[in-house]
Amino acid sequence: MNYIGSKHKLSNFIKESIYSVVGNDLSNKIFCDIFAGTGIVGRNFKKEVKQVISNDLEYYSYVLNRNYIANTLIIDRQSQLIDELNKLSDTEGFIFKNYCKEGLTDRQYFSNENGKKIDSIRIKIEEWKKEKYINEDEYFFLLSSLLESADKVANTASVYGAYLKHLKKSAQKSLLLSPAIFDTTTSSHQVYNKDSNELIKEIKGDILYLDPPYNARQYGANYHILNTIARYDNFIPKGKTGLRQYNKSKYCSKSTVMTEFDLLIKNAAFSTIFLSYNNEGLMSVEDVKSIMSKYGKYDLASTSYQRFKADKDSNRNHRASKTEEYLHILVKD
Ligand SMILES: C[S@@+](CC[C@H](N)C(=O)[O-])C[C@H]1O[C@@H](n2cnc3c(N)ncnc32)[C@H](O)[C@@H]1O
Repeated sequence: MNYIGSKHKLSNFIKESIYSVVGNDLSNKIFCDIFAGTGIVGRNFKKEVKQVISNDLEYYSYVLNRNYIANTLIIDRQSQLIDELNKLSDTEGFIFKNYCKEGLTDRQYFSNENGKKIDSIRIKIEEWKKEKYINEDEYFFLLSSLLESADKVANTASVYGAYLKHLKKSAQKSLLLSPAIFDTTTSSHQVYNKDSNELIKEIKGDILYLDPPYNARQYGANYHILNTIARYDNFIPKGKTGLRQYNKSKYCSKSTVMTEFDLLIKNAAFSTIFLSYNNEGLMSVEDVKSIMSKYGKYDLASTSYQRFKADKDSNRNHRASKTEEYLHILVKD
């Protein structure tokens, strides 16, 4: 998934930096990814650690992590379930009506055909859960598969803050549900859907990885359609983009971020803490350093990172820009 602040491309840098502090053998460690987003960081450590604790404020992220992290046993009939869902006939449901051109509004987040497919698949997954035809693991595996597959054919430049006027090439393709494959492990993992600053008071472990939002862009607004597919609840979509009510993270505001971050570090019962943050964030490098240094031995690693920003008005042009990506390190007293 093309996600704001995804650490997919920084995986090696993060892993190597963590090894250099904690050592290469993590088999006895509890690793927490408390701003998990797509879950890629927790996924990278899932097979290596004793336990992953994964969390995010957004429900779509919970769904993804409930599958990628908490699912540990092979789903034997995964192909059969996916095949059944791919064969469904179209339904004019909530997504088609509210987010497709031929629906009740002018919005065009998906082609008409794909909107109807999303509706059919989403409705069937819920029916199967109600009838107990599928268990919880299968439910989140299928929902995750739907989120990932729908995201591939979304008619947006990158996020769901706006849709494109004309259907872009990838959005014209028919949605094909593909399996959201997860790693199997013998150990079990925990996944939460809470505010980081609440959850931190309830957990403890060895390695705490922090990747909060860097700027004022709220994830709940930028990915509202994913929440709507994940929840599939009834609400009245607002305005041009059909927004739903969304969470306002205190990490997205200059006036609250430092206090919130300080509290998080203070309350963390973890021996080592790693924070990803770049040089364009609401907190400066110095801000972060001064907060973290209060609680133990501080260090800083950095790497230069080539980012591609989607151009707002076009789906073709991408602006390349270089940013400095930091990993702040704290060994807590
Ligand atoms: C930079 S992204 C994380 C990206 C993730 N590491 C990845 O590679 O996909 C920040 C995440 O923090 C989540 N978030 C924002 N405020 C939060 C809060 N107060 N508690 C928990 N999660 C929060 C957002 O929903 C978003 O998924």
